[in-house]
Amino acid sequence: MQQTEWNRLGVGAGQQSTHNAGLLNCMESHRFAIRFGIKAAIALGLAAGFWMVGAGEWSAGPPAIEAARTRMMGHAPKLGCTKCHKAQAESWLKSAHGNAMENLKPGKKTEEKQKADLDPKKDYSADPDCLGCHTTGYKEGGYVAGNSVKEQNFANVGCETCHGAGGDYQEVKKRYPNDDWAREEIVSAGMKYGDKEICEKCHNKDSPFNAELDPKYAFDYKGMLKKGTHKHTKLDKHAPRKDSEWLYKED
Ligand code: HEC
Ligand code: HEC
Ligand code: HEC
Ligand code: HEC
Repeated sequence: MQQTEWNRLGVGAGQQSTHNAGLLNCMESHRFAIRFGIKAAIALGLAAGFWMVGAGEWSAGPPAIEAARTRMMGHAPKLGCTKCHKAQAESWLKSAHGNAMENLKPGKKTEEKQKADLDPKKDYSADPDCLGCHTTGYKEGGYVAGNSVKEQNFANVGCETCHGAGGDYQEVKKRYPNDDWAREEIVSAGMKYGDKEICEKCHNKDSPFNAELDPKYAFDYKGMLKKGTHKHTKLDKHAPRKDSEWLYKED
């Protein structure tokens, strides 16, 4: 969906957020979600109307709405994933992933940077060579340097890097007021669980800090899983996943 159409939806529904993730991020409770759903449906109808008037034809159907189904949601506090998953969010905020942009700044990790032939005085915070692994969804609908809304939502290595773009699976969750959706349904809507292949998109030899530079950067999936994601809580409505390292432990 075009940016302008999302803006129209956000504004039309009377929400504070006018960015492209506004529709989902504003879902405060299920009761609200239902009311909002009606408003959104009206706004969608309007947006589709605008689209059709704008395009000057009725035949092709709105491709913009189809495109929206793979959108990212963002992890900005009070808006995205972090709003409903506080335990995970609070620990993530303190983790290396939750602060992955800090080390791109000048004066940070000077010795390490020198060893990797990087300039410790240089500011790498907007460097396209670094952002792909130090932000969320760079060039995939997430982080955009210089766009303050996208920066707020997608800075650092956030939830959706490991769990997949949230727009679609949040749509599924919204349809179940008692949260009793089937796991297969959210998985087919894009939910992921930090599999090894996901980690290795960044923890690989293209990183300036790789096992060749220093064996301490070698990526050991199981060890790193325990060290590096976030605090895990017991799910109320769903059994642990059988086919994975379920990381929740009783206190
Ligand atoms: C291919 C992905 C990738 C790219 C590209 C990348 N990084 Fe990283 N970076 C990582 C990963 C993964 C780590 C964590 C390594 C570890 O601790 O095992 C990391 C860690 C770091 C660290 C901390 C090192 C330490 O010892 O604590 C700094 C500083 C850093 N990166 C800077 C940069 C800069 C500057 C750029 C751009 C020139 C960049 N990175 C590009 C993936 C990447
Ligand atoms: C989008 C890129 C990206 C993905 C995907 C990613 N990481 Fe990272 N990871 C990083 C970066 C960048 C750092 C270093 C941040 C820093 O210190 O500046 C890091 C740091 C870490 C650290 C801390 C390093 C240490 O030695 O303390 C752990 C642990 C870790 N990652 C585990 C994982 C695991 C497990 C996965 C998959 C489930 C994963 N990461 C997926 C980019 C990524
Ligand atoms: C570096 C990868 C990574 C990042 C980033 C990440 N997660 Fe996770 N998350 C995981 C893994 C791995 C699991 C365990 C999955 C399993 O065993 O099936 C998990 C599990 C979960 C669960 C299930 C319950 C639990 O606590 O285990 C929730 C909810 C969750 N994450 C939410 C979040 C939220 C919200 C964020 C952002 C604040 C986030 N995650 C960021 C990797 C990640
Ligand atoms: C409106 C609240 C809400 C938002 C926003 C939300 N979630 Fe959830 N999520 C839930 C609930 C409720 C559950 C089910 C918890 C249970 O079973 O007890 C859940 C479950 C999960 C699980 C476990 C799935 C499984 O198979 O067991 C993960 C992982 C997760 N969410 C990640 C995310 C991520 C990432 C985002 C942002 C893109 C997000 N959530 C946004 C409410 C939310």
